[in-house]
Amino acid sequence: MPKDDLQVMRELMENHREGFALDRHFYTSEAVYDHDIKMFWNRNWIWVGHVSQVPEPGNYFLFDYGPESVIVVRDREGEVRAHLNVCRHRGSRVCLEKQGTARVFSCPYHAWTFGLDGKLRGGRAMGPDFDPSDYGLFPVQVQIFQGLIFICADENPPPLADSLDRLAPLSAPMGLENLKLAHEASYPVPANWKLALENYLECYHCAPSHQDYSRSHSLKDPADVEKYGADLRERSASIGLPVEELDLTGPNAQAPGSDVYWRRYPLFPGYQTGSKDGEPLAPPLGALSGHDGGATDLAIGTLNYFLIYADHLVGYRFVPRGLQETDIQIAWYVRGDAEEGRDYDKEVLTWLWHVTSLDDERIIRHNQEGVNSHRFAPGPLSEMEWSLPGFYRSYFNMI
Ligand code: FES
Ligand SMILES: [Fe+2]
Repeated sequence: MPKDDLQVMRELMENHREGFALDRHFYTSEAVYDHDIKMFWNRNWIWVGHVSQVPEPGNYFLFDYGPESVIVVRDREGEVRAHLNVCRHRGSRVCLEKQGTARVFSCPYHAWTFGLDGKLRGGRAMGPDFDPSDYGLFPVQVQIFQGLIFICADENPPPLADSLDRLAPLSAPMGLENLKLAHEASYPVPANWKLALENYLECYHCAPSHQDYSRSHSLKDPADVEKYGADLRERSASIGLPVEELDLTGPNAQAPGSDVYWRRYPLFPGYQTGSKDGEPLAPPLGALSGHDGGATDLAIGTLNYFLIYADHLVGYRFVPRGLQETDIQIAWYVRGDAEEGRDYDKEVLTWLWHVTSLDDERIIRHNQEGVNSHRFAPGPLSEMEWSLPGFYRSYFNMI
């Protein structure tokens, strides 16, 4: 009997050579893709937005990945909750609008009606034995860290609380609970979600592929990070931001999927933030008193990445839509009281990560095209791709 795709996947995992890329099978098999959604996406924390996007009871938005759709809503008591967007009658999507304000969610098919808390209010003509309390929307777990909303479809999500407790004092000066969404964009790329995520995780490609990014960010060369890092410490301290690292990844993580990583690195001299001309883009975040010319890499879990400058936060997700269809979703946040036109210009604010994402879309697409070739075999990773083996380990651990 021929081996099935998941057996092949398991053998490839067992025989994986440390320090090498993954076999093409991980990016080309429908069975592996379905398995990724089930074992990795459904069981990991996914960052979906910020509490400021659902300020009032009834405000909601949808977050979709793979075949799943999740309603993120603020309920009557003011709690942020999440429910699977799947009717418990015959499975229709319950909520069709991407975002809005609702008093209840009424299924468009046969009009079963659910409260903001997910409880079924009533099913039409269901007879005397029908108990609505058996048919509430499936709950999705919610975790909020300083205003950032994470969801997990599994009943037993990876434990994050301890790691987030350790992160909290480091990010406190940035006032992340007080942010405002300035812009969101989605860059569809015809590639497997892992190729998009791996591309984000390494900066080996930054020098050849990202001219604009490379002018301002030191990461493409470890020697530059070293060289400008000492200065950054002083500048950061002077605006009220202590420079400490926190690496709770890999063996330091509490459990698979509980990784947290925090590190500030220097921009090149002349750059106060991630702007085209080096000039500030928005008022400093939180309690910061100015711009330090640094950028913080923040990872929470294995799917959620943030880059925090002194005056804005950029969040990244690499959302699977199909085996070789991924949306690179990027969201830009500024301080809660910043006003467009007065305190920031949306075009100017989003310029860097817009052009950088267009570059990424192109290189990831070509990456997938090459990986689809029957002759592709994984090559060795460079030292500058140090974060990839860690991702492969987390991935193997969970699938
Ligand atoms: S599928 Fe929702 S009411 Fe029938
Ligand atoms: Fe890139």
